[in-house]
Amino acid sequence: MYYPQELVEEVRQKNDIVDVISGYVSLKRQGGNYFGLCPFHSEKSPSFSVSQHKQMYYCFGCHKGGNVISFVMEYENFNFPEALRVLAERVNVSLPEVEYTEEMRQKESRRAKLFEINKEAAKYYFYALRSEQGALGKRYLTDRQLSEETMQRFGLGYSLQYSDGLVRYLKKKGYDDGLIRDSGLAVFHEKYGMSDKFFNRVMFPIQDVNGKVIGFGGRVMGDAKPKYLNSPETEIFDKSRNLYGLNFARTSRKNGIILCEGYMDVIAMHQAGFTQAAASLGTAFTPGQAMLLKRYTQNVYLAYDSDDAGVNAALRAIGILRDAMLSCRIINMQPYKDPDEFIKNLGTEEFEKRIEDAENSFLFEIRMLKRNYKLEDPEEKTRFYTEIAKKLCQFEEEIERENYLSAVAEVHQINPQSLRKLVVSQAAAGVKVRLPEARSGIQNKNTVEDGQKKVQRVLLTWLAEEPGLFAKIEGYITPEDFTDELYQKVAKQLFEDHEAGHDNPAAIMDLFDDQQERNAVAEIFHTPLARIETKEEREQAFRDIILNVKRNSFAYYTAKMGKDVSAVQRVVEAKKALEALERMHFVLD
Ligand code: UTP
Ligand code: MN
Repeated sequence: MYYPQELVEEVRQKNDIVDVISGYVSLKRQGGNYFGLCPFHSEKSPSFSVSQHKQMYYCFGCHKGGNVISFVMEYENFNFPEALRVLAERVNVSLPEVEYTEEMRQKESRRAKLFEINKEAAKYYFYALRSEQGALGKRYLTDRQLSEETMQRFGLGYSLQYSDGLVRYLKKKGYDDGLIRDSGLAVFHEKYGMSDKFFNRVMFPIQDVNGKVIGFGGRVMGDAKPKYLNSPETEIFDKSRNLYGLNFARTSRKNGIILCEGYMDVIAMHQAGFTQAAASLGTAFTPGQAMLLKRYTQNVYLAYDSDDAGVNAALRAIGILRDAMLSCRIINMQPYKDPDEFIKNLGTEEFEKRIEDAENSFLFEIRMLKRNYKLEDPEEKTRFYTEIAKKLCQFEEEIERENYLSAVAEVHQINPQSLRKLVVSQAAAGVKVRLPEARSGIQNKNTVEDGQKKVQRVLLTWLAEEPGLFAKIEGYITPEDFTDELYQKVAKQLFEDHEAGHDNPAAIMDLFDDQQERNAVAEIFHTPLARIETKEEREQAFRDIILNVKRNSFAYYTAKMGKDVSAVQRVVEAKKALEALERMHFVLD
């Protein structure tokens, strides 16, 4: 940890979680909690909950959760110190400058080091392009009509002809072999040792939304294959959750974001003033990327290649964007292949017009569908219309469905009345009408173990919400009664904090470095408590839970008695507590 615990605590306490998350997600108060649409997965009804009291968030749909610091980490893709710095700034707490002593370097997280290595590599390639030996790369980029300014802005570079220039450079900077290999920038041969992954290519650094270099694409300067080589996925490079150029596009203040297929397309568009362009990273567009776009815009324009592969990729992207509830229009690139070629040939103004004339994604789908049918054949024509009717059924809102129906009818000269009848018959025939998604988080997997864990979670949630209850369980329940390893760790801290007089479940989160574990901890503190109406019910429920937890603990340690000496003691104690508990009645306030 870089900063003293008290300072971390101060930053967390001054940053109210509801205030901070409200800056990212629109939240509505509902009982004691706030709810909103989860920023980490796509959903129609809010299952993302934020508790002001506990200073935690948890999504019942995708099970992500944490405190205010881990929210910023997850959302911004920051590590702990980065998130802390942002939050400290927000509330004017000054953090001491971190001195990077040799010892801290050692301790620094691998992630931070991988970021550093990528940044160093970007510098190395950047200077190489501008050196004498980089003339070839420079000529290539200039021939592709990129200005000096554009090359600068995108940090373009060049990997030299040597096979290990970067590896030597990084080693000289003090990075060890293992880390260099894990950065994906070097490859390892049994015979020759380590060598650069990229050589003799023009280099495109790939930045995350915050502008940090997380990987590279490298293009050959001729016709060799593969045309582009990309960094492999690493701990900091998740191709499904980043987009090339989005660091600029997200602040472009244009109406919408243009999504295209290639690095060069993004760069050409930005150079022409279309700074809202971004591209996926040599892989198909993913739902994670849709969620990322959704943070910045409601309107996506597709500027995919005009060939068959591009159309198919666009059709898949449309489905994903629709699932994320983003509006999507398709830019027609004909007669050119991609935005780069289009702009070179027809210029900025023509491209601007194409954006204005972009086609609604549904109409695009229908137009592409049409290509599969020979419409002179009445049978095929009927099938085409039936297919349209089926697709119209996916709109749940009548008015929306009607609007699309009229539009399609007009474009394809179909009688709207007949089409409407077809829609009704298709809907009746049980075409899958999209149902609102299930609230998956509440579902129970009814195994005994899950049941046991759930009771333990309920108790921990209850204790966190009403610390007054600690007094009631004293002498009966100890942290060891939470038999799941993670729960026990959490319980120990919760009990310890309570004894020390500062109940603070949100702080417990910081004990866990791993996002998966933080999600699980958040889940522990967000277990839905059954609806309880009367005082009697409350007392009864509380007693049931305590008994349940204790009985489980008794059974658990009994099973361990043969192997574990300390288990005997626990069993004896548990037995005594159980006898007392079975006779007693809890009186709660
Ligand atoms: P394209 O083949 O359409 O290339 O690939 P392009 O963008 O038009 O490139 P230029 O104009 O010839 O330089 C689109 C994207 O697909 C990925 C890259 O991300 C590229 O930008 N790709 C393509 C690869 O990852 N590897 C390849 O071999 C080819
Ligand atoms: Mn191209």
